[in-house]
Amino acid sequence: MKIAIVGATGLVGNIMLKVLEERGFSAIDLIVVASSASVGKKIKYFEKEYEVIAVEEAINKKPDIAIFSAGSETSLKYAPIFAENGCFVIDNSSAWRMYPNVPLVVPEINASSITKETKIIANPNCSTIQMVMALAPLHNAYKINRLVISTYQSVTGTGVKAVKQLENEIKGINTEMAYPYPIHKNLFPHGGSFLSNGYTSEEQKLVDETRKILSDNSLRITSTVVRVPVTGGHSIAVNIEFENDFTIDNVRKLLSEMHGIIVLDDVANNSYPMPLISEGKDEVFVGRIRRDESNPKSLNIWIVADNLRKGAATNAVQIAQYLIEKAFVK
Ligand code: A2P
Repeated sequence: MKIAIVGATGLVGNIMLKVLEERGFSAIDLIVVASSASVGKKIKYFEKEYEVIAVEEAINKKPDIAIFSAGSETSLKYAPIFAENGCFVIDNSSAWRMYPNVPLVVPEINASSITKETKIIANPNCSTIQMVMALAPLHNAYKINRLVISTYQSVTGTGVKAVKQLENEIKGINTEMAYPYPIHKNLFPHGGSFLSNGYTSEEQKLVDETRKILSDNSLRITSTVVRVPVTGGHSIAVNIEFENDFTIDNVRKLLSEMHGIIVLDDVANNSYPMPLISEGKDEVFVGRIRRDESNPKSLNIWIVADNLRKGAATNAVQIAQYLIEKAFVK
């Protein structure tokens, strides 16, 4: 089986290779792709070195699966060309997510939206993935009416340049800026670009993608995305208003039973999820589970996950595993 990683030299691409190794993809014919600036570089995978090639060359190699994490422009241009050749494209950019015929997949929730004929599959936004992992079992049990979301997003979500900016600012050296402002000793309510409704593109993704993944366009959702000087993972505070009554005990039970979630909620011992705990892990951590005493049938929770893992690379590799398990790819 030929698997191409488009954007293999990037932060997410790098973790994709790591996750593929951890999950035992040792027998694949690996194709590593990046921009022309990286062509010829070597990447190690299972102790073997692979040379980075350009995307045009990768098309000719006719991969069975191509996992893209090279930005929207690259995905928009090249994903259809790979797909026309019979390749399954798993795309981590936002380019294809809201197309009605493109499934937007978190495997634990809606893998069944993929069929043998689906050639482009979208990997959701990093914050959306970790949030819907916690919301899906609660929505099934109590029906969510409204969500008020506040995120605290790591600089790794922006890419290599943003991590460099933070590292350089900590060291006090001049740096190329990925953001309009310093991020060290700072934070800003600005993720992506501003839209005409006053929200940012990252905030709008949380609204649109959550509705699509939970298959419920009636969900009322508002969100604020904040970029924080953190590298280990994204954190999200969510206020959830349900249609039906709930008990905290049952909420805990439902979350504990959800595959891929770890409940960390022992406040007597200062136990709650944090980016430092989530870093390098595939699970989504949920804590601070408490009733919203200001509003009937409402709940507050705190969700943390490694945005490069479950928020990106791990989720994409899980989709590839699903394609193989279902024998859509042989
Ligand atoms: P390169 O390293 O050569 O720039 P990040 O989001 O962490 O910055 O990573 C982006 C990834 O997408 C990198 O691997 C980058 O390669 C790759 N990339 C950017 N533009 C293209 C392109 N036109 N074709 C293939 N890969 C690209």
